[in-house]
Amino acid sequence: MNEAATAEAATSTARRIAVIGAGPGGLYFAALAKQLAPDRELTVFERDARDDEFGFGVVFSDETLDGIARADPRVFAAISAEFARWSDIDIRYAGEVRTSGGHGFAALDRNRLRAILQQRCAELAVDVRYRTPAPPVDRLAAEYDLVVAADGIRSGTRATHPESFRPELDERHCRYMWLATDKVFEAFTFIVEQYDFGVLQVHAYPYSATRSTFIVEAAADAWRRAGFEALAAREPARGESDLASVRRCAELLAGHLDGHRLIPNASRWIRFTTVRNASWRHRNVVLLGDAAHSAHFSIGSGTKLALEDALALAAALSEQPTLEEALAAYEAERRPVVESTQRAAQASLEWFETIGRRAGQGADQFAFNLLTRSRRVTYGSLRARDPAFVDAVDTAFGGSPGTPPMFRPLRLGALELRNRVVVPPLATFTSPDALPSGFDRAQLTGHALGGAGLVLAGMTAVSPEGRATDRCPGLWTDHQEAAWRQLRDAVRAVSDTPLGIQLTHAGRRGASTAPGPDGIGRPLADGWPLIAPSAIPWDADSPVPHEANDIQSAAVTADFAAAAERAARAGFDVLELQFGHGHLLSSFLSPLTNHRTDHYGGPLAHRLRLPLEVLTAVRAVWPAGRPLLVRISASDWAPGGTTEEEAVAICRALAAAGADALDVSTGEVVAHQRPPYGRGYQTPFAELVRTATGLPTVAVGAISGYDDADSVLLAGRADLVAVGRAHLYDPLWTLHAAAERGHTGPGARWPEPWRAGSRKPPGPNADRVAPRLHLLREPPAPVHRRWSPPPPEE
Ligand SMILES: Cc1cc2nc3c(=O)[nH]c(=O)nc-3n(C[C@H](O)[C@H](O)[C@H](O)COP(=O)(O)OP(=O)(O)OC[C@H]3O[C@@H](n4cnc5c(N)ncnc54)[C@H](O)[C@@H]3O)c2cc1C
Ligand SMILES: Cc1cc2nc3c(=O)[nH]c(=O)nc-3n(C[C@H](O)[C@H](O)[C@H](O)COP(=O)(O)O)c2cc1C
Repeated sequence: MNEAATAEAATSTARRIAVIGAGPGGLYFAALAKQLAPDRELTVFERDARDDEFGFGVVFSDETLDGIARADPRVFAAISAEFARWSDIDIRYAGEVRTSGGHGFAALDRNRLRAILQQRCAELAVDVRYRTPAPPVDRLAAEYDLVVAADGIRSGTRATHPESFRPELDERHCRYMWLATDKVFEAFTFIVEQYDFGVLQVHAYPYSATRSTFIVEAAADAWRRAGFEALAAREPARGESDLASVRRCAELLAGHLDGHRLIPNASRWIRFTTVRNASWRHRNVVLLGDAAHSAHFSIGSGTKLALEDALALAAALSEQPTLEEALAAYEAERRPVVESTQRAAQASLEWFETIGRRAGQGADQFAFNLLTRSRRVTYGSLRARDPAFVDAVDTAFGGSPGTPPMFRPLRLGALELRNRVVVPPLATFTSPDALPSGFDRAQLTGHALGGAGLVLAGMTAVSPEGRATDRCPGLWTDHQEAAWRQLRDAVRAVSDTPLGIQLTHAGRRGASTAPGPDGIGRPLADGWPLIAPSAIPWDADSPVPHEANDIQSAAVTADFAAAAERAARAGFDVLELQFGHGHLLSSFLSPLTNHRTDHYGGPLAHRLRLPLEVLTAVRAVWPAGRPLLVRISASDWAPGGTTEEEAVAICRALAAAGADALDVSTGEVVAHQRPPYGRGYQTPFAELVRTATGLPTVAVGAISGYDDADSVLLAGRADLVAVGRAHLYDPLWTLHAAAERGHTGPGARWPEPWRAGSRKPPGPNADRVAPRLHLLREPPAPVHRRWSPPPPEE
């Protein structure tokens, strides 16, 4: 589209636009929308005065800056001139400082940003009305073609039409306070200080020649114990600061302020609220910036998201033929970006909420853990930015630099695993006769050759009625035992990779068909009677199980022990018991599925009874030295389900009863679960369990990239990583992870007959050599850049 056509489309979609709120989002949108179609009428309503100062510094990443640079070079030039720029992150922890370089930050005073945007709006003749609360939104909606609600995190617009926006406000328990200081930090600085009351953490960064932002944060219990609750007892009026708390923070953190002040500005303790809306639109009203979504300050500022929204909305109004399509396009473009940012922000805020868990870590590992907390920054990206930092952490982890963490050995019981990768149980559903199938043999052989340190066979039932489906194998007859022994021998003939087997009784999840293309099984038409702790079916279509009586429970224990003996005789090196995923023993553990009132139900000690009886019986027959793993569901992802405290108590009990390691999964306990699927979403539970029990843990779930695996291990979140579906995509996943990085150590041993293929084949463009395209190449940016303000002008 040429310029005239663009302007025409723009004004036909929305000629008269009202904007509620002259924050960064509202102002930037107004400027861009006017710039794209100058004959448009834009009116911005702002309840505060033009010069009301609020907030401190704003940080941007290089990515956002690119967007701003192209959308409005004048705004970009004006803000660039004021940037504080640096590339280092300092982590001050336990009296030590670790520095990671190569990150690329730019920050400026939030009030200067607003002033620059105000100036731009004035140049473009945008009508900004200060000290003017917006008229009711429905009136605006009737008078204007479009209403842009950029009215901030407490958006009144959102509250006026909850039926359309369907907001979800998640208020977190940590308390934090925005402050500034006249100490000019040289880098983004995380301060983590341990006091007798708990941990205080500070997120600080420079934003001018004279100021830094200084956000103090504490978990709710530490905050109370520190006495802040009492200090903040009198709610400060709007615009006032909680000066008593500010003074106390200055005292506590004096060692980091070097005699400088903390400077409040309407500063008081607040709790972060994550805002989500099911829709950002109500007829011709659209939400933008904090009104639509918020993301915890620890991963970057809300200002960045608000500016990006403004850019996308202004563009959509020009690019789309109708207002309705423009608003739909805006939301379609922004929602995935925002949701991805919110996932990272959620991981980051939960990391800070549970910071006490990492109290035992050394400074190097702690720094690495902190930097990789949101899962956006990884082992690989940190190495690319600052190899020396990652080498130091690698060395502290006990490895030699250059050996990726996943290729370090691990001793489990008497078994030496050559690396940290596990192929978790992956049932094949190919056993109509309950015997391990040809496909099981092929799959396990493939995975054993594929390089993982440990391979586990899929769920194998301890009794006929314990099968999940009519195509699952079992281990309750001599015939089955012999078939498994044959399979084990066949795998051993070609690979020395340790092989384990998972034993289960499916309980109420039994008697189903094998999963269809949607991954879900259906109840068998001619299934077998099911047992469970309580008569609660899996879902509305499932048969109602019988409440197990004491005789049946005792039989379950005996069946597990007998199957474990058979597994040992069949030659398995590792045994895993399935106490998760809603199978029988998982159902006993969860309060959602165990409603019994006898000695197997009620308090956790009772709910643990049968699982512990099974584990104890298995431990007694399973050979000492051969690792015994237990898989659990550490969360049910449903209200009223297993809590974190209970998950810890369960794992401590399993450790005491003889488990050698815990395979920490979640969910599949009830059909109405709502897991927050996403990369590595179960990993925090592995870290929780590892810290609480001291037992090795296996992290599992959407750890598909080797970079994620390395990050999990080096951060100390788990001792092993299980990679499931990615091994179905590529059975040689582990060896390929080595080849990709040119790693050839003992943790990545290629099968001898395949040695010729141990290097990644050249790609289609491998023989194309790029010519020089620059006369003079720019020198690479230095890894470490610190903020040093320019000397004041004479
Ligand atoms: C105390 C505090 C300090 C912060 N400091 C920083 C910081 O230093 N750096 C940073 O990056 N982020 C900071 N943030 C977050 C940041 O303010 C937001 O993420 C960002 O400003 C979002 O921009 P926005 O335009 O969507 O909303 P906002 O900046 O919140 O702007 C909303 C505007 O709408 C106005 N408004 C609301 N209702 C009406 C109405 N009915 N009529 C007229 N006007 C109305 C408000 O007065 C406000 O000016 C801070 C947040 C808080 C609460
Ligand atoms: C085809 C398939 C079969 C599975 N079979 C089992 C099983 O038998 N027992 C079990 O505990 N988990 C089983 N799982 C779950 C995996 O072990 C693993 O926990 C899950 O796939 C998440 O890891 P991923 O994201 O790396 O795939 C299965 C998963 C898939 C995809």
